[in-house]
Amino acid sequence: MGERRPMIAGNWKMYKTGEEAKDTAKQLVELVKEVKNTDIMIAPAFTSLASVFQAVKGSNVALGAQNLFWETQGAYTGEISPMMVKDAGCTHVILGHSERRQYFSETDESVNKKIKAAIENNLIPVFCVGETEAQRDSKETFSVLDKQIQIGLKGFSVKSLERLVVAYEPVWAIGTGKTATREQAQEVHAFIRNLLEKMFGLDLSDGIRILYGGSVKPENISELMALKDVDGALVGGASLTARTFADIVTFK
Ligand code: PGA
Repeated sequence: MGERRPMIAGNWKMYKTGEEAKDTAKQLVELVKEVKNTDIMIAPAFTSLASVFQAVKGSNVALGAQNLFWETQGAYTGEISPMMVKDAGCTHVILGHSERRQYFSETDESVNKKIKAAIENNLIPVFCVGETEAQRDSKETFSVLDKQIQIGLKGFSVKSLERLVVAYEPVWAIGTGKTATREQAQEVHAFIRNLLEKMFGLDLSDGIRILYGGSVKPENISELMALKDVDGALVGGASLTARTFADIVTFK
């Protein structure tokens, strides 16, 4: 099995003003400056990207956006292009988060276009997938994930997906304090890696990072990271405080 470099990403969602975000980012940079073996990324709101970039530039903390629109520019009121996201200092972008699917009508097809736009613009997509509680209860977890991934990654060459990061976030575990059990997480991560192998071959599936997301905190990170197919975490609530997020990054 290939060595996969761990990645811990923070999704700040719709929290923090520019100043607050910059302060948290500054504290984080200080707390994780010795970390060498893990990719660290934070994704503040669009309005804080520029100020957070000032705090993280030159550090080992990368900047990500939480969304983008696939067009380069044009009459699309309220949208942000990949170029703009890059211009603000981002190297990464979270795409297809379940909150965007749930509240903002994102579909597998629109997520596919966004991933394509991100890759074309040299941004690393963190592609989120996951089932709802009702889907899990009715044993649709694997078919839901299959569809999200088949459509989300439709039409890509193996080469273009080399830097792709996938995040498995069971919707019922996001912000609820419920985490998937070890067995549930490993089972789904292995399913995703197998599916990626079927779609794109072993070289790609072996190298791709699959993050787990949903109520990750300092108390549960080590048991998640011990799982064979879990390569990191996408952290919401617990990433809002620099100390807590740093404790997740530097877990023992
Ligand atoms: P949570 O959010 O850690 O607060 O559950 C995770 C996410 O939505 O990415």
